[in-house]
Amino acid sequence: MEFSIAVLGGDGIGPEVTGQGVRALEAAGRAFGHSFSLSYGDIGGVSIDKHGVPFTDEVRAMSGGNDAVLFGAVGGPQWDDPNAAVRPEQGLLDIRAHMGVFANIRPVKVYPWLAESSVLKPGVLEGVDMVVVRELTGGLYYAEPRGRRETPGGIIAEDTMRYTEGEIERVLRIGFELARGRRKKLTSVDKANVLECSRLWRAVATRLGREYPDVELEHVLVDACAMQLIQYPARFDVIVAENTFGDILTDEASVLAASMGLLPSASLAGVPVAGQLSVGMYEPIHGTAPDIAGRGIANPIGSILSVAMMLRYSLGLTEEAAAVERAVEQTLEAGFRTADIGGGASAVGTVEMGDRIVAAIEEN
Ligand code: IPM
Ligand code: MN
Repeated sequence: MEFSIAVLGGDGIGPEVTGQGVRALEAAGRAFGHSFSLSYGDIGGVSIDKHGVPFTDEVRAMSGGNDAVLFGAVGGPQWDDPNAAVRPEQGLLDIRAHMGVFANIRPVKVYPWLAESSVLKPGVLEGVDMVVVRELTGGLYYAEPRGRRETPGGIIAEDTMRYTEGEIERVLRIGFELARGRRKKLTSVDKANVLECSRLWRAVATRLGREYPDVELEHVLVDACAMQLIQYPARFDVIVAENTFGDILTDEASVLAASMGLLPSASLAGVPVAGQLSVGMYEPIHGTAPDIAGRGIANPIGSILSVAMMLRYSLGLTEEAAAVERAVEQTLEAGFRTADIGGGASAVGTVEMGDRIVAAIEEN
């Protein structure tokens, strides 16, 4: 089959790692007889520099007109002026909203060969295998009113947390569906002891739970969840959280996996259950890492595993997705390491890691 993919590398290490993601995609295409037509666009800081805005009409059209989007990362110190009229991050928020990708799926898995590279004790990490579903197009990131104004009593800044029942239900449903295909446990995260949005969130989770009697539902307050993620991470199967809570918890959870550089994500506009494909944007969870950008040492695995998620959720190519994941595991098992996962003096670079994984995809 032929698929069309938009590739938006963005800033910093974004284009380098995305380049290896594309190579893995093409290797899977060769191995299984698919072809991909790729179109490249600018987003974030690079787009501000070239076009004056972080998200152009051209990229807007690309993001809706393809089977999926492969995204790198946006941002960097050169665009960090807090008074700047436009920021790279706005490009990311705009494309998420434009594509309607309301659920961000972030799997966190600990590879046995890397447990030693984590800052946590290997015993704590045993059996860690969770998926965090983060609400992505609502809450504090988008709701109005927001802004800053001068008042006689001083400057006031304000953001709004608002959720509709429908927004809460659709993202929780994704969590329940994913849990059904896994260990059947769902942790709904909220701050229902304080926030009105969280009380609605909890009520919707409880109501939806009745539709999924086979899934064990628990409610955990976000502060307690932050603690348990480090203390007993293996107890979690699927976690669902609103936008800001999910942003914070997933950076925390990434520490379990030895390096953020390993972790992929899928942002979906629909429920990813058997046979139902969703429009999606796929990106590693790490940022632009300006300190190592252009040095050829970034870990491309987060992008390559994001390609595997794309194959599964947007293209319906399950076997192909598994082949890419297996190739990553074989490469790690064979001992190849980038600098971030303990490569030390014998660390491989971005392209060599890509070469190894491509070779493993082609051999299988
Ligand atoms: C993420 C990032 C973004 C977010 C930033 C870059 C706007 O931290 O994808 O987790 O907060 O959503
Ligand atoms: Mn984040």
